[in-house]
Amino acid sequence: MDIGKTRKNYKSKNGIFNNKRSPLLFFKEWYKEAEKKVSEPNAFALSTSNKNKTSSRMMLLKDFSNTFTFYTNTSSKKGRDILSNKAASMLFWWKELEQQIRIEGTLSKLSTYKVKKYFYSRPKDSQIAALSSNQSSQLESYNHLIEEFDTNKKKYSKKRVPFPKDWVGFELKPQMIEFWQGGPNRLHQRIEYKKIKGIWEAKILAP
Ligand SMILES: Cc1cc2nc3c(=O)[nH]c(=O)nc-3n(C[C@H](O)[C@H](O)[C@H](O)COP(=O)(O)O)c2cc1C
Repeated sequence: MDIGKTRKNYKSKNGIFNNKRSPLLFFKEWYKEAEKKVSEPNAFALSTSNKNKTSSRMMLLKDFSNTFTFYTNTSSKKGRDILSNKAASMLFWWKELEQQIRIEGTLSKLSTYKVKKYFYSRPKDSQIAALSSNQSSQLESYNHLIEEFDTNKKKYSKKRVPFPKDWVGFELKPQMIEFWQGGPNRLHQRIEYKKIKGIWEAKILAP
């Protein structure tokens, strides 16, 4: 299928280069705007790699300040990747704002205290779903998963759901953050921040 003619023109004329502040504040500013206009602004693609093989999947960002936090399962492909390679990248695409943000850095595990605190703040059915799913393992059938969920739902209807042993949280400490704003005639605006000897340095890049 030839889709070469699919073409969207970007329009934004808002300048992004007068920003010499920390990219973390810049991210917060854009995020607040995205919360108003984007349906799931916390959705991002996480790329991990292991032995020269890279893979990406969508994730949900759950917290950010100086680092960027998400939750997952160590039994998964990404879990195994991260175990052997702490380098990762996050990618946000906020279509409604014609904005892309790329973040690269290294991951570290959150404390069990923080992870449990978040786990038990989730709706009980989500806790039960996490307990019932050994993420990325092969299933005999989809029904098998539903049965496991129903069994656990009954079992823990009046009890606290046990904490799933492979459930983890990671925070990414950024070393590079790039902001991209779509513009007319493909003349998009890009600004890249790199942390060099503890200081964020900014560069404007050609689109
Ligand atoms: C919008 C969206 C958000 C998601 N958020 C998460 C998440 O926060 N954590 C997670 O483990 N998986 C999340 N997933 C599922 C992952 O994309 C993926 O299927 C799963 O983590 C297994 O990936 P892996 O086998 O590459 O490790 C999300 C999927 C979508 C589409």
